[in-house]
Amino acid sequence: MKKILKWAGILLLSLALIASSAVLYFKTKADKMAEERHNPEIALLIDIPTDSISLERGRILSVGCQDCHGHDYAGKDFFNDPMIGFMASPNLTPSKGSAVELYETKDWIKALRHGLNPEGRPLMVMPSESIGQLSDRDLGCLISYLKTLEPIVKPLGPTNFSFMAKAMLGAGLFGNLYPYDIIEHESVKSIKAPAVSNLPEYGEYFAKFKGCKSCHGDELNGAKSPDPVSPAAANITSGGNLGKWSLQDFILTMRSGTTPEGKFLKPDIMPWVGLSVHSDTELEALFNYLKAQPSLDDSEEIKP
Ligand code: HEC
Ligand code: HEC
Repeated sequence: MKKILKWAGILLLSLALIASSAVLYFKTKADKMAEERHNPEIALLIDIPTDSISLERGRILSVGCQDCHGHDYAGKDFFNDPMIGFMASPNLTPSKGSAVELYETKDWIKALRHGLNPEGRPLMVMPSESIGQLSDRDLGCLISYLKTLEPIVKPLGPTNFSFMAKAMLGAGLFGNLYPYDIIEHESVKSIKAPAVSNLPEYGEYFAKFKGCKSCHGDELNGAKSPDPVSPAAANITSGGNLGKWSLQDFILTMRSGTTPEGKFLKPDIMPWVGLSVHSDTELEALFNYLKAQPSLDDSEEIKP
């Protein structure tokens, strides 16, 4: 009996040791990931137009940024959790001490298309894999508008992850948080877009830079979120509720956040506010694009 207890003790102790060295391994891996620096070749020849029509286009394209960077674009507590730690989203206004104070056009492109800060550090959570799909022209309008933001000084605390959060990050438990890793850096050097119209091809472009597929899945028939407390992203092919919606239903949903079935879509989960400011023509293009996709059953991931 004593012998068995002794062996059980040794076994438990070795398991604990393996577990703690795994935790340390993943924590170190997360630290390494955060220290990586990259320097991809970027497109430098983007025109930054300053006429009023272009600035208005830029303003519309920037509304979605407020979801994370705050209503005044000056950054906010992005998360603040005793278990995970603290992270602020950076201040995007050109004020003293803001993240973009010294930004030149190339730095904007590096962040928005390649997911890197000016030093080449991969940005975390910042959805450059979709925003970076904006055409050269739209990206120019967006950057131009951002440069005109009123400078706001706002103190934001430094990012500080707990040991456990780093270990979980290193082990990939939060999914991949670095868009840099999934961006095709060659293909984003220069991007052309179809002219604005209600056609599905424009809708496809719109869906790309809004990142519908990064949440709703490659086939748009639904996907789970890496965030365990977030609801799954619905099937938005005709196989889901969308199949029963008219164009007017769709536009109203994108403008009010409430679906014809009466469900309110929380804007921090389904980012519709940045969609709501686009024209009827653009929303119609999005609808026509979704309707032109194969009608699929809910993906396996989201089936109850
Ligand atoms: C889902 C949330 C989210 C959205 C939406 C978002 N961002 Fe970010 N962004 C972040 C976070 C978080 C960071 C900080 C990442 C880091 O430091 O690792 C960031 C970083 C940045 C940076 C880099 C600043 C620096 O430190 O050099 C820029 C520039 C930026 N965002 C611009 C934008 C613009 C422009 C938009 C809208 C077109 C936008 N972001 C939309 C979350 C978001
Ligand atoms: C950041 C992730 C995210 C992005 C990006 C996103 N969605 Fe969603 N969307 C969701 C989630 C999550 C839900 C489900 C919300 C719920 O159940 O409360 C949802 C719900 C919806 C619904 C309601 C479906 C129904 O049956 O009630 C529609 C329509 C929709 N999204 C369309 C879109 C379109 C079109 C795009 C791209 C332009 C898009 N979404 C981009 C996460 C996202």
